[in-house]
Amino acid sequence: VDWPLFGRKLTGWYRPDRRPMPWKGDRNPYRVWLSEIILQQTRVAQGLPYFERFVAAYPTVADLAAAPDAEVMKHWEGLGYYSRARNLLKAARKVVEQYDGRFPATYEGLLTLPGVGPYTAAAIASFAFDRQVAVLDGNVFRILARYAGDPTPIDTGPGKKHFQSLVDAALGDTPAATFNQAIMDFGALVCTPKAPQCPSCPLADRCRALAQDRVYELPVKGKS
Ligand code: ADE
Repeated sequence: VDWPLFGRKLTGWYRPDRRPMPWKGDRNPYRVWLSEIILQQTRVAQGLPYFERFVAAYPTVADLAAAPDAEVMKHWEGLGYYSRARNLLKAARKVVEQYDGRFPATYEGLLTLPGVGPYTAAAIASFAFDRQVAVLDGNVFRILARYAGDPTPIDTGPGKKHFQSLVDAALGDTPAATFNQAIMDFGALVCTPKAPQCPSCPLADRCRALAQDRVYELPVKGKS
């Protein structure tokens, strides 16, 4: 697979205004972090008004860290997965108390924050700090497995490592903020789980799953 070509096609397709979101292009680490935590188990349309209300109520991480627990939990109401809200407060207070009010500027540093896992750390590191790290989530597994026609199961340790190396190759020297936002939008709009838009896909001419009529068989799940 020519991964640099994949990267060029993907970012050539990307238009920031195709899915407008208030945090797109925002490099403020606090707002990027807040948006990514809200979006962890929540759809964009549902999370958007919560993001706007949080930013209005707590414009900075110091404002959030100083807020009473009950007030923050009240703002979170309706989003579910309340451990996210508790970790949100813990992380805000950690940034204020241990990091002098500034978010860690590296992938590894971001991982030290409660509620920030590999996906979220990569998103924040690339969007806010221009770090050269690719996000890896269900969308990325699906897009790479289909493009490469790769039947490696995605839900095993070795499988995840394999796809990590594929996405690293695909990222290459493409600016990670653009690559990551592009692959998120591509997974939401074109290479979707159920009704992928293959006839209008900008990657169709090199997609092995499409050539072999295996789009609906990939990615492969189920430990084997
Ligand atoms: N899902 C998680 N993060 C996202 C982002 N930055 N844009 C779109 N969808 C997302």
